[in-house]
Amino acid sequence: MAVIGIESTAHTFGVGICEDGKIIANQKSMYQIKDKGMVPIKVAAHHSEKSSSVIKAALDEAGLNIEEIDAIGYSMGPGLGPCLAVGLRSAKRLALDNKIPLFPVNHAVAHIEVTKQRFGVADPLIVYVSGGNSQILGIEKSPFKHYHVYGETFDIGIGNMLDSFAREAGIVPSWGSEVAKVAAGGSYFEMPYTVKGMDFTFTGLLTFAVKSLALHPIKDVAYSLQETSFSMLCEASERAMLLTGKKNLIVCGGVAQSSRLKEMLEKMAKPHRRRVYVSPNELNADNGAMIAVVAESMFKSGQSFDIEKLDIKQRYRADSVEIRW
Ligand code: FE2
Repeated sequence: MAVIGIESTAHTFGVGICEDGKIIANQKSMYQIKDKGMVPIKVAAHHSEKSSSVIKAALDEAGLNIEEIDAIGYSMGPGLGPCLAVGLRSAKRLALDNKIPLFPVNHAVAHIEVTKQRFGVADPLIVYVSGGNSQILGIEKSPFKHYHVYGETFDIGIGNMLDSFAREAGIVPSWGSEVAKVAAGGSYFEMPYTVKGMDFTFTGLLTFAVKSLALHPIKDVAYSLQETSFSMLCEASERAMLLTGKKNLIVCGGVAQSSRLKEMLEKMAKPHRRRVYVSPNELNADNGAMIAVVAESMFKSGQSFDIEKLDIKQRYRADSVEIRW
């Protein structure tokens, strides 16, 4: 079966197609952030403008036409309201016009599942790190099968923390990946480190790093900020891994594109004889293919939804989703 997935939680309008679990198309258009970060209404206008052409590009890449599509998935949340609404509108139009069943997909679950299914990893511990989210999760079967959150950020996501630092430091474009470039060759100095059990916070660290710009070279601040925040994730993940006894570790989400984070998590996991799995960057960046993968699983598990009643959920937590497959 062939499934289209539509992603529009934040800066990316993405459309992917999978066929029997295999990704055969993954197209996107990304809103280019200017100096002040994301203005949701402007990002949504970008998504509206690009939606038809990205859907067409994905169908062309897959060599399919819409009549050959068996199901459609869309990102229900979490995300920015105006951006999610564009994805929902596009998905509903496509589903109703062509009489195709529609599936609401949790964006975090999609990031997890695409990596889990790619590597065939059973029951992993998951480090989900993106702009708006930073959580450590794993499957629990009670009271229903779901991704339980063992630990998470108490304030902002690590990606937004790094992007905010980039903006304050005048790094352009203001992405965490650019902070990593600036950090190359930097020297470490101590920064606030806050881990409580398996939870953590980033705002105090961000404030400290921004203030440090007046006292230290930018590359030292960027390096110390990255090392400190990644170390916090490593400590919390190691505790969760040993507590749950889970044998494999998946890192997913936008910040999983960081090679340094992967390196540090591998260093942490190796003495415990645990393996770390990370998907290629195009599957960790926001994309439509991961939405298609989960929609296919939902379809095959027998779920069905009334298209007219489907909506968006800006604060849609991964742990509220029942995993039926
Ligand atoms: Fe994401």
